Amino acid sequence: MLLSIDNLKVRYGNIEALHGLTFHVNEGEIVTLIGANGAGKSTTLKSIMRLPPPEAPRVSAGDITYKGQSLLNVEPHDVVRKLRIALVPEGRHIFGNLSVMENLMLATYSRGSDPAIGKDLDRIFDLFPRLAERRDQRSDTLSGGEQQMLAVGRALMTNCELLLLDEPSMGLAPLLMYEMFRTLKQLNREGLTIVVVEQNARLALQVADRGYVLDTGEIVAEGSSEQLASDPEVKKAYLGG
Ligand SMILES: Nc1ncnc2c1ncn2[C@@H]1O[C@H](COP(=O)(O)OP(=O)(O)O)[C@@H](O)[C@H]1O
Ligand SMILES: [Mg+2]
Repeated sequence: MLLSIDNLKVRYGNIEALHGLTFHVNEGEIVTLIGANGAGKSTTLKSIMRLPPPEAPRVSAGDITYKGQSLLNVEPHDVVRKLRIALVPEGRHIFGNLSVMENLMLATYSRGSDPAIGKDLDRIFDLFPRLAERRDQRSDTLSGGEQQMLAVGRALMTNCELLLLDEPSMGLAPLLMYEMFRTLKQLNREGLTIVVVEQNARLALQVADRGYVLDTGEIVAEGSSEQLASDPEVKKAYLGG
């Protein structure tokens, strides 16, 4: 088991947002967390990244372990640098006034003069040829889809082993959504473990191995993607019948 969330309770101030969440991710899997707006999906990812309050919650009970080690007392920069977990946040958060290349290179800051940086950059430009064509362009002039590719590329430039994505399909035209999920599948085949949070459950269940359904801070269903996609309750609530 690579990542394990055990009976996790977190709060924003006095408000509990996760009420005892339990789920796990095995090495090499794509796991999806699906659920409606406000269910606690982003909160779960922020908790794993150990981002500080107020934008992220405080853990009040339970544990988050990665490779058997508790993350609760790990600094956010060490989550990225030492444990090699990266987040593609909701809304992308790229630096619009910087070029594509500058955004990608910023993510390598903690890697020092790692000789593999050049190779990783080539790989990202292979995965996303549009980014290669636009490497010197200001990032705020990219389309929404290209900005999402840049956000994924930037996370990959940290040399992560576990990639967390928060609603990567948001705001993308259908064709670009499929392209993005195809790319995630390819990265997974090359060894990357992925947790993807989505409101677009149909799409997420097409690429994930397993999934969990989150409803107001609790897991209400879990199983293989096939099981969830054919579950009558899940179909009714999340797949449009
Ligand atoms: N920074 C915050 N401060 C206070 N409450 C928050 C904050 N972020 C999220 N919440 C609350 O936590 C709950 C879960 O939100 P969130 O994790 O963003 O859901 P989702 O990503 O599934 O849409 C919601 O009730 C939301 O209002
Ligand atoms: Mg969210």
